[in-house]
Amino acid sequence: MKTDTLLILGGYGNTGQSIARLLLKETDCHVVLAGRDLARAEAMARALASKHGSERVSAVRADAADPSSLRQAMEGCRLAVVASSTPAYAGQVARAALDTGTDYLDVQVSTAKLGALSALEEDIRRAGRCFITDGGFHPGLPAVLVRYAGSRFEHLTRAEVGSVIRVEWARLDIGATAIEELVGLAGSQILEFQKGTWRPARWTAMWTPRTMDFGPVFGRQYCVPMFLEEMRSLPELYPGLRRVGFYVGGLNWFVDWVVFPLAWLAMRVWPRRALRPMARLMHWGLCRFSRPPYGTLLKLEADGLVRGTARHLELTLSHADAYELTAIPVVACLLQYLDGTARRPGLWLQAHVAEPERMLRDMERMGVAISLVEPVPGRERTAEEHWAQTPAHSVTPSGPA
Ligand SMILES: NC(=O)c1ccc[n+]([C@@H]2O[C@H](COP(=O)([O-])OP(=O)(O)OC[C@H]3O[C@@H](n4cnc5c(N)ncnc54)[C@H](OP(=O)(O)O)[C@@H]3O)[C@@H](O)[C@H]2O)c1
Repeated sequence: MKTDTLLILGGYGNTGQSIARLLLKETDCHVVLAGRDLARAEAMARALASKHGSERVSAVRADAADPSSLRQAMEGCRLAVVASSTPAYAGQVARAALDTGTDYLDVQVSTAKLGALSALEEDIRRAGRCFITDGGFHPGLPAVLVRYAGSRFEHLTRAEVGSVIRVEWARLDIGATAIEELVGLAGSQILEFQKGTWRPARWTAMWTPRTMDFGPVFGRQYCVPMFLEEMRSLPELYPGLRRVGFYVGGLNWFVDWVVFPLAWLAMRVWPRRALRPMARLMHWGLCRFSRPPYGTLLKLEADGLVRGTARHLELTLSHADAYELTAIPVVACLLQYLDGTARRPGLWLQAHVAEPERMLRDMERMGVAISLVEPVPGRERTAEEHWAQTPAHSVTPSGPA
């Protein structure tokens, strides 16, 4: 049987290399690492080949800004994982995938990217291609958690997800464009679900954070609303929802209270000229002020009704390494894509194309710590224990003590 070939654009970047390692471990695919620097791609391919065999991994030069290099790199591939910090070129990367009959999955955080892909949606469907966007941790997982909770309640009334990302940035070799993407978030519109509809948040939302309890390691942290496309359709899926949203925790005090407000202002006044200096300041602030404990965590707090009784569910996912927690959901989704269960022609969000329970089980197997915390003190279980005791689709969210 022919082995599937998957290309990773940005294959030797932080996200790309984590995805490559996991794909080699979890599948029998051939993995091609791509980027603008062929020597770096080859070095990474050699390192991975020493563990997985040289027939499993190779390298190619490709530049997202150069459509012909993209077409050459994608030729013969089943799917391209776009793990490069190149949302500005999303349209032409997607077009190259269409031209070469390649499916697509990206992990980028960008509304411009979503616009470029939406413009191609009809072409994608007509070509019978499967394009998955907003892959990774966030975007990528918050709506998976809500859909998981949704299958456990008859009537879901509240589903709020918060995240903590604490990274030792000074130890990372991260490209300037990836930091620029982070700065770009300061200029993106925040929508909040209020009175039954998504409305633009007041400009003060950034300076009036709410708090969420992230457990024993991180404690109670402030977080601000961040709109993710995957949350938009949840009130339609669960019409009882009154409170739904995603809230992102702080990176460190300097970046939260100095860099982001300054970037927000600068990006409004000089949207183009401010990007680079703000990205340099952001990178310096991330490296200089980030402190342990390090780790990444995503937590869902959900309320609803089961047989007419109010119930509460908390689901927490964590991993010591933020890039692993980005790569694991991508590979968990790709496992469903590769066996055909999540492969459908069209443009999909990772958080909606994947089946939530299988995704959570696969993620736990790949190293994500998952716990279901119930409101009765001392009744914490890993998801594995929980699932072992409960047949699929019959979990009852816990009630008050
Ligand atoms: N969804 C999530 O949860 C999540 C989490 C983390 C990161 N991300 C996203 O993942 C992406 C990568 O982030 P990262 O932190 O891994 O960045 P990184 O470590 O700097 O890696 C970026 C990679 O992109 C490549 N690249 C940059 N420009 C390129 C171009 N024009 N053509 C081809 N390749 C190019 C780089 O190689 P060369 O510069 O040598 O070409 C490098 O391999 C970003 O878009 C980021 O927003 C998403």
